Amino acid sequence: MDERIAFVGGGNMALALATRLAPNWRGAIAVADPVAAQRARFPAAVATTANNEEAVRDADVVVLAVKPQVFQSATREAAPALADHALVMSVAAGVPLAAVERWTRPDGRAAANRAVVRCMPNTPALLGAGITGLVANAHVTAAGREIAQAIMAVAGEVLWFDTDAELDAVTALSGSGPAYFFRAMEALVDAGQDIGLAPEVAKRLAVAAGAGAAAMARSDDPSVLRERVTSPGGTTERALSILADMRFAEALRAAAVGAFERSRELSRELGEP
Ligand SMILES: NC(=O)c1ccc[n+]([C@@H]2O[C@H](COP(=O)([O-])OP(=O)(O)OC[C@H]3O[C@@H](n4cnc5c(N)ncnc54)[C@H](OP(=O)(O)O)[C@@H]3O)[C@@H](O)[C@H]2O)c1
Repeated sequence: MDERIAFVGGGNMALALATRLAPNWRGAIAVADPVAAQRARFPAAVATTANNEEAVRDADVVVLAVKPQVFQSATREAAPALADHALVMSVAAGVPLAAVERWTRPDGRAAANRAVVRCMPNTPALLGAGITGLVANAHVTAAGREIAQAIMAVAGEVLWFDTDAELDAVTALSGSGPAYFFRAMEALVDAGQDIGLAPEVAKRLAVAAGAGAAAMARSDDPSVLRERVTSPGGTTERALSILADMRFAEALRAAAVGAFERSRELSRELGEP
């Protein structure tokens, strides 16, 4: 694709996306970040600047990749330089579509029909192994969706949703989800040491078990896989019965619902004018 892309914010997410896009994307890629050390991390093919307006001025696609706390000010700063036709993508957690539309339209000037795609990636996106939930507003064309999809696909899988509210559920499942699995791995590493393994060996075993389970669950139902690996009277059955006694499944469901509710609260707080 040959659209000119500008990133506002040159942090970890922008670095992961721009570095993966640069070898194959025909259009120019620019990044704006106030910190020289952040800009220096980008490959030579990516133009960098400290000035948000300069980066976005000629861009066909602007990816807003700053932390939610500074998102409003950075977006308002870049807004006057946005081309009317520019597609705006946000990867900020918890910032609703309507807020991005509002902040990219300073003084009611132009582009009241601004095309905006909100993206909710997750940490494995940094390795190209993530999954991103996307939602587009009514002004995004089919071509705009294709561009947004092509950009986020370098970070892993891409899944479209119809409403902004659904991205709160995406946040609870895949956004915060890696942390649930990291926590499980930590606990297994501790258990490994309790039963005589060296920490690095326990980590290797726990991570491989998680990666292997994830690979199998891509094509089969997790409940079928679990039943298949649970022999009557065996080790897995004993472990699962202890997990059931300790209400493991209920705890995980409550955790995800809590993350969903927090995401809704943040959307309300961060989306205020
Ligand atoms: N990393 C993830 O796994 C992940 C997952 C899902 C969603 N996200 C979302 O992606 C966004 C970026 O995350 P990240 O991990 O890349 O954060 P990050 O590493 O902190 O990157 C943000 C960058 O933006 C810079 N910045 C701050 N104010 C700016 C401004 N006014 N104009 C231009 N740049 C500015 C920051 O500079 P300073 O360092 O000087 O502040 C920093 O280099 C966040 O909104 C986050 O919610 C990230």
